[in-house]
Amino acid sequence: MSELQMDCTEKQKGCMRVLVTGSTGLVGKAIERVVNEEEGSKEAEQWVFLSSKDANLMDFQETLAVFQKHKPTHVIHLAAMVGGLYKNMKANLDFWRNNLYINDNVLQAAHEVGVVKVVSCLSTCIFPDKTTYPIDETMIHNGPPHPSNFGYSYAKRMIDVHNCAHAEKYGSRYTAVIPTNVFGPHDNFSIEDGHVLPGLIHKAFIAQQEGSPLTVWGSGSPRRQFIYSLDLARLFLWVLREYKEVNPIILSVDEEDELSIKEAAESVVQALGFKGEVVFDTSKSDGQFKKTASNAKLRRYLPDVKFTPFNQALKETCDWFVANYDTARK
Ligand SMILES: NC(=O)c1ccc[n+]([C@@H]2O[C@H](COP(=O)([O-])OP(=O)(O)OC[C@H]3O[C@@H](n4cnc5c(N)ncnc54)[C@H](OP(=O)(O)O)[C@@H]3O)[C@@H](O)[C@H]2O)c1
Repeated sequence: MSELQMDCTEKQKGCMRVLVTGSTGLVGKAIERVVNEEEGSKEAEQWVFLSSKDANLMDFQETLAVFQKHKPTHVIHLAAMVGGLYKNMKANLDFWRNNLYINDNVLQAAHEVGVVKVVSCLSTCIFPDKTTYPIDETMIHNGPPHPSNFGYSYAKRMIDVHNCAHAEKYGSRYTAVIPTNVFGPHDNFSIEDGHVLPGLIHKAFIAQQEGSPLTVWGSGSPRRQFIYSLDLARLFLWVLREYKEVNPIILSVDEEDELSIKEAAESVVQALGFKGEVVFDTSKSDGQFKKTASNAKLRRYLPDVKFTPFNQALKETCDWFVANYDTARK
């Protein structure tokens, strides 16, 4: 698959109209905050943040209409059906179809209105189940994903196929980033349907209120790399403005920052000041044991990139959840 060189950064900076799909979610809210906090970016760029209320991206006519309305030159495509292990296990068909339609509609509408660059979002959980570690960007299509989330995984992998085919036919600059587990304010804190960290935060909060034990689902031994949504948002902006490849790039903390679920639960306990017992329900599935990802490509571009220390980012997330408990997605 070819790597195209792009020349969009300096020349186009003055006329960038950036449309963000899925901007009401965890990652979109972080991008909106970082853009609003940046000096000067609003003069150089116009930003439009979309939610499902603006257009149901499952529907191509609605998707095309919203693209025709805003006429973006650049797109950050975040909208997706997203969920944790247990939601994925229940709904592989929906994850496959919904994401396949959303992604195809967005990429086709972008093409039809002449968007010059799209940055879509894959995930390290879509990589082959049986693999060598660390995983890197070249390994996405090297074997079946973990059976727990094969619908989501194959739908996401097709974005990379679409980007490469589009580049081959039109010489376009549609690319994708590959984050590890994301967490932060505005996450989905649903215990049943959310990702592991927001689920743990919510469970620990309830256990604290009720004086009951915190039950961690699974053995606690699987390992994960967690990236703070605000760190990811800053990297997204760098990819949008500077990254010149069609091939995707992993956006992850270092390999040595990988944590077991047990360690993550202990950090949540500390961040919330939870004093009760922690128990592990081993009748629940562990999911994929690990997905250790290499950020070597990112570090080749940005050798000095710094990430917010995990415990600081977790504390900020827990504080946000407690302060916004009534309105947070649960
Ligand atoms: N969270 C993670 O750990 C993680 C890890 C790796 C990659 N990613 C990827 O990062 C991206 C953002 O994830 P997130 O965690 O921010 O997701 P999220 O919080 O669940 O937000 C999903 C967003 O997608 C929008 N959306 C869903 N279905 C839609 C539809 N049919 N039409 C229009 N908009 C729709 C939602 O809009 P409404 O709010 O209006 O419903 C919301 O803004 C996704 O592509 C996801 O696959 C996430």
